[in-house]
Amino acid sequence: MNLKNKIKKLPKDILSIIEKSGALADEMSVSVYVVGGFVRDVLLGRPNLDVDIVVEGDGILFAENLKNILGGNLVKHIRFRTAVLSLENNLKVDIASSRSENYVSFGALPVVDKGTIRDDLFRRDFSINAMAAFINRHNFGYFLDYFKGRQDLKNKNIRVLHDLSFLEDATRMLRALRFEQRYGFRMEKHTRQLFAEAARRKMLDKISKHRVRDELILGLKEESPVKLLGRIDKLYGFSFICRGIKLTSSKKKFLKTIENTASSFCRDYPKKRALDAWLIIFIALLEGLDFKKIRKICHDFAFSKGDSRRILSFHEINKRIIKFLSRKRLKSSLVYQKFEPLSFEVIALIAAKVRSKIARKRINEYLLLHNGIALAINGSHLKELGFVPGPHFKKMLTKVLHAKIDKVVKDQEGEINFIKKHGFASQEPKLRGKFR
Ligand code: CTP
Repeated sequence: MNLKNKIKKLPKDILSIIEKSGALADEMSVSVYVVGGFVRDVLLGRPNLDVDIVVEGDGILFAENLKNILGGNLVKHIRFRTAVLSLENNLKVDIASSRSENYVSFGALPVVDKGTIRDDLFRRDFSINAMAAFINRHNFGYFLDYFKGRQDLKNKNIRVLHDLSFLEDATRMLRALRFEQRYGFRMEKHTRQLFAEAARRKMLDKISKHRVRDELILGLKEESPVKLLGRIDKLYGFSFICRGIKLTSSKKKFLKTIENTASSFCRDYPKKRALDAWLIIFIALLEGLDFKKIRKICHDFAFSKGDSRRILSFHEINKRIIKFLSRKRLKSSLVYQKFEPLSFEVIALIAAKVRSKIARKRINEYLLLHNGIALAINGSHLKELGFVPGPHFKKMLTKVLHAKIDKVVKDQEGEINFIKKHGFASQEPKLRGKFR
């Protein structure tokens, strides 16, 4: 079989990368292949902006030469003999020297050695990710499928290549579930048994947490993260994140609401930025754990500062804020002050959690009308009114802003009148001559 026709139908910029790589391979007299997820998606007819290339030879030298042809930004990983070339339009070329891998102990990173393309394909996770196509100009598109990946694609199967696969690299357990969800596939019977054995041995609990974190985030970024969590719950549980995480039916409902909120956020509030949907799903998953445990998770998994802040702030404040929002009487400016320091992710979570209509209305009002609201006046107007600039300006303008949010003032004239009426007394300004 030959993938030439399918490859030729790829978008022009991707085809050009492949053809130029093939021409370079000829020039350097090395055999070069597109491999892995890229070939899988070519066969499935799905877009994939990451071109995975394997060079039977010096991958680093190939990558340097390719950079001279295509431009872009090249990052080399000499130890693994791999490189990543980032190009315009989110295109990326992953270049590797064909290699074999040996695992000295389960869960540790493998020892890497030179190998043939077959060795390189055999070290991979699943048959559907272990296909390749030759891209040198003679025989362009020649298809290599040593492990029956194409058949598994047709049968919608996720199948490991050997029995130790999950034990050697437990992140593959999460990958298997991710691909199941993404493509609507299922692990075939023997792979399921191997998965169950690795789950029984709690292999995911034993590997380094940042690898688990990265894989989990990729899973939560997929289209149906809640389905994925359901599957993880069924086949493994969440001990690899923290004991005590339970997917109760009320939590499932909450997660579903959150998933919908995240996807409709930009539609409902068109001026807001898109949410980090994976993060809010993750935050919701941790609901019910005590604060200390959540802090430990942030630390152990080395979440970035920003992510940790968002994770912790929701768990710290949500109960208090929900109670506050459900008060009978509440000035809009007070809601504004509570919400201003919060991230959209945290606000979306609160929105999904509140039950009372009045609280929901207040959140809507904040997001639609008040977040990002600005005054018609600024410091120059205050100077014109005779105030001497200083830190009190900010306080004065904030007061006017709150008045505007509470509809006490409407327009520029109203804002100026408000300053004239209230500004002097509350801020003890130093006045210049004409307003004395
Ligand atoms: N791979 C593997 N074991 C892993 C991770 C990756 O064998 N734990 C191999 C697979 O062959 C995979 C390739 O490396 O196809 C590239 O990895 P990655 O880019 O993470 O995955 P993709 O399959 O391209 O998946 P995605 O579409 O999510 O990018």
